[in-house]
Amino acid sequence: MTLEATLFGAVWLMLPAYLANPAAQITGGGLTLDFGRKGRDGRPLLGPGKTWRGLVGGVVGGLTVGSLQVVASAAADDPSVLPSFDPSGGVASPASFAVVAVLALGALLGDAVKSYAKRRVGKERGQRLPIADQYDFVLGAWILSFALFPAWFAASFPPGAAVFILVITFALHRGVSTLGYRMGLKAEPW
Ligand code: CTP
Ligand code: MG
Repeated sequence: MTLEATLFGAVWLMLPAYLANPAAQITGGGLTLDFGRKGRDGRPLLGPGKTWRGLVGGVVGGLTVGSLQVVASAAADDPSVLPSFDPSGGVASPASFAVVAVLALGALLGDAVKSYAKRRVGKERGQRLPIADQYDFVLGAWILSFALFPAWFAASFPPGAAVFILVITFALHRGVSTLGYRMGLKAEPW
C-alpha cells in the first residue's frame, strides 16, 4: 500500500471515534453519568458535562457513520481503497459493527476519564486541559480497540499512521471546536 493510502486509511478508520463527540454534544443532557455523585474531595466525580444521553447518542452517532463506512468498504471490496473494520481480516463482517461501536464508545470513555481528571485537579466543566482535551478520545478509542481487537488495531494503525493521526487530530480538533462554538453547540471555542 502507498503511504497516502495508509494515512488516508487511518483517518477513515478513526471517523467513528471523531464523530462520537459531536454526536454526544448534540444529544447530551439529562441524567449525568456520575448520577450527581461527588468524590472525596467534594467535587463532582465527572460533572454535568457527561450524561447518559450523550454517551448513548455518541455511540449511536459513531455507529451510524461507521455502519455506512462498513457498507462502503464492502462495496469497494478493496482494502487498499477503503480499509476495513473487519477484525477477522476480511472486507466486512458482522463483527465490523462491533469494532465501529468500540471505537465510538472508547472515544467517549476517554472523554469521561478526562473529565474525571479535570474535576480532581479542580477544573470546572468546560475549563480547558490542553493536550488531554485534544487526545482523550483518540487514546480512549485506541486503548479499547487494542484491548478487544489487537490484530485489527495493529494492522490498522502502524506507528507512522498513528503519529499522523496525532498530528492531524490536533489541527482537526481546533477547526471542529471553533465550528461547534460558532454554531452554538459548544459553550467554549475549544
Ligand atoms: N456530552 C454529554 N455526554 C457525554 C459527553 C458529552 O452530554 N458523555 C455533552 C455535554 O452537553 C457537554 C458537551 O457534550 O457539555 C461537550 O462535551 P465536552 O466538551 O466533553 O464536555 P464539557 O462540557 O467541556 O465538560 P468537561 O469539562 O467535563 O470536559
Ligand atoms: Mg469541553
